[in-house]
Amino acid sequence: MLDFKETIAAALDDLGLGLGRGELAGMIEVPQDSSMGDYAFPCFRLAKSLRKAPPLIAADIAEKLAGRGLFGRIEAVNAYVNIFLDRASLIREAISAALTEGDAFGSSDVGGNRRVIVEFSSPNIAKPFHIGHIRSTVIGNAINKIYAFLGYDTLRVNHIGDYGTQFGKMIVAYKRWGNRADVENEPIKSLLGYYTRFHEEAEREPALEDEARLAFARLERGEPEERELWQWFRDESLREFGRVYRMLGIEFDSYAGESFYSDKIGRVLGMMEEKGLLKESEGARIVDLSEWGMPPALITKKDGSTLYITRDIAAALYRREEYGFYKNLYIVASQQNLHFQQWFRIIGLMGLDWAESCVHIPFGLVSLADGTMSTRAGRVVFLEDVLNRAVQKTREIVIEKKVNTDNVDETARQVGIGAVIFQELYNGRIKDYVFSWDKVLNFDGETGPYVQYSHARASSVLRRGGDAAARALEGADGLDFSRIGGDSAYGLAKLIYRFPGAVLEAGEKYEPSIVARHVMGVAQAFNRFYHDEHILADDGAERAAKLALAGAARQVIKNGLSLLGVEAPERM
Ligand code: ARG
Repeated sequence: MLDFKETIAAALDDLGLGLGRGELAGMIEVPQDSSMGDYAFPCFRLAKSLRKAPPLIAADIAEKLAGRGLFGRIEAVNAYVNIFLDRASLIREAISAALTEGDAFGSSDVGGNRRVIVEFSSPNIAKPFHIGHIRSTVIGNAINKIYAFLGYDTLRVNHIGDYGTQFGKMIVAYKRWGNRADVENEPIKSLLGYYTRFHEEAEREPALEDEARLAFARLERGEPEERELWQWFRDESLREFGRVYRMLGIEFDSYAGESFYSDKIGRVLGMMEEKGLLKESEGARIVDLSEWGMPPALITKKDGSTLYITRDIAAALYRREEYGFYKNLYIVASQQNLHFQQWFRIIGLMGLDWAESCVHIPFGLVSLADGTMSTRAGRVVFLEDVLNRAVQKTREIVIEKKVNTDNVDETARQVGIGAVIFQELYNGRIKDYVFSWDKVLNFDGETGPYVQYSHARASSVLRRGGDAAARALEGADGLDFSRIGGDSAYGLAKLIYRFPGAVLEAGEKYEPSIVARHVMGVAQAFNRFYHDEHILADDGAERAAKLALAGAARQVIKNGLSLLGVEAPERM
């Protein structure tokens, strides 16, 4: 693994200082003032164990580290060891790793093939797939890719919301006012229309609610008519969601949604009963969580029907037994924090020690300028519309600016969709934001298209480099990196070197924005290098070294974008 702190910690560890490698790595600092070194190691904490004054320890360490591998100058200043990296070796190291590992650069095997379930997207059928869902969808997709890259055996689950009393309402509404052709043409819009109408009419005719409860009970019993309608609503909705997933290039391994667990709940209730967790409350059954400062969790309703939380508990049990996960991740909005805290606690109380392997990964709210999104009030922005408009706008720009491409539609698709995904992943996931068309359609500044453009620019210079470029890309072995010691080359190489560390950190923190920001840094550093230096220099050795650095930068951008689920066009 390439990471300076790790490398330095490993060298310190060899000196037998009496601390673990992790601890040593944690002590390494990055000085504000780079004249104090690229890194600094304070020796205060070693004084006790080594029974020596810190400045003496620093001097001793400096002497022993000098001249090793990546280290250039090493200075002891008071209690600090100031470490300057050797530019040429660092550049060689970074380029060589990126070019030889290629598409695998940044990956690792820390996961040891352990199973990680990544549950994400999980929209509700017969409801709009709106801009709010984009977050779970693209954050989850990126987390899945990052975990797979880190050597975990991941499984992508879409926990579709396809069960619950609202389907009783939908069935009643369809039977009263529905029309087959409309549902086939525009499933979600039509079904949603019936559902909204149900609520309006039920105000005047409360008996509708009872009818709906009955319809849901029949559905739960598996009565053919209700079952068929429900299956049809589900199929039509999934077909529509599938369009969006295809546009985003996202796939799932399982669409086992809430309904999948309906016949697995009896057993779960039995287990809860056995542990004495269930309490009667006005005919319903609840788990009292007051001891943990949480409101009670409603497990079954008066009429015996189950709830969202009950199905989540059954799903977790099923996954554990079926897949034996090491981690079970839920990429779900922060509004559901309490829901997850409640049921994680419940499975803990059921004596299932793997409760701790379940992790809720929350993200902030997307609202609209005129308030929160509301399906009922018709205040929603459809995700498909956002993607289509982004592609359309990109198409106009591609034509207007005469962008270098032999396939306008393909480039417009790659860049338009990439822009939406990248913007979504560029900020920390927990941040709330207000959706704005202007922002999503703005491609200037720190955006996905800027990163994609940098990738295309590097690709273009490598094409122009011809045979020399092809040879340089074979690896750093015969190249002379003393020719590219300038600040912009060094800055770029450092970021390339740190890429694997960024991927690891993104995985540990479940934070794709760390990868997005790193890739942005590499793109900016590459453009600085491109601007400061003449890459296709006359001197053959210089040209080869510069092309190799451009190739390494292109590789990191490509790998980083790919982890985010963004394509990297060769031309634009
Ligand atoms: N369908 C739910 C919604 O749209 C999200 C499901 C989240 N996943 C879960 N296992 N509860 O709000």
